[in-house]
Amino acid sequence: MTSRAFDFAELTPKERYKLLIGTVIPRPIALITTLSPGGTPNAGSFSFFNILTHDPAVMAVGIEHKPDGTPKDTAANILATGEFTVHISDHALVDQMEICSIKFPADVDELAIAGLETAPGEAVSCPRILAAPAAFECKLMQTVPVSPARTIVLGEVKRMFVRETLVDPETMHVDQIGIDAVGRLGGHLYARQLDQFERVTPTLEQFLALDGSGDR
Ligand SMILES: Cc1cc2nc3c(=O)[nH]c(=O)nc-3n(C[C@H](O)[C@H](O)[C@H](O)COP(=O)(O)O)c2cc1C
Repeated sequence: MTSRAFDFAELTPKERYKLLIGTVIPRPIALITTLSPGGTPNAGSFSFFNILTHDPAVMAVGIEHKPDGTPKDTAANILATGEFTVHISDHALVDQMEICSIKFPADVDELAIAGLETAPGEAVSCPRILAAPAAFECKLMQTVPVSPARTIVLGEVKRMFVRETLVDPETMHVDQIGIDAVGRLGGHLYARQLDQFERVTPTLEQFLALDGSGDR
């Protein structure tokens, strides 16, 4: 099979964006709540998001600035307060998650408009969305200003919440069908994570003992 090569130095930002978001899929979606220094709750969705390591538990979010070059409300609040709460969006939350992605002015509480009930934060002061299957309260570790138009935010998870029916507190096993998390694809597409399969990576010894037939 042949491949088509793309030299990123020759592409426009839009072209790079389309290639990246169409291939790095599905991307988990962080529905992030923050509080402004004046106490206004804010929510926004971010799919340039992932966990990077678990000890310490570090989450990364890539936030683009607004067209006028100022930080989005989420980034401004994180920089000002050092706190944010990441929520996993399940299929049932997609409509509200989309409402939280609308470019409302900074003094508008997207959570109220989306009709999302919240509880006060515990390790942080940001509100927690009760309908989310999982939430992570994070303290800002570091910001990486990758360009004048974009900032990467690294946060350490201080406290986590999982819907009680989805987690076994003895084994820490999470019900990954029940969580029904949605991922972002290219364009305006989303995916549910319901088509799962299991593979156990062999140890080196197991691999060397394979007869080459592919049987495991
Ligand atoms: C599924 C989804 C993923 C998004 N991912 C990002 C992202 O990774 N980075 C970003 O800057 N904006 C992203 N956006 C756009 C923001 O959600 C949008 O700009 C929102 O208004 C930000 O909220 P804020 O201004 O209250 O911070 C995404 C939107 C949606 C619907």
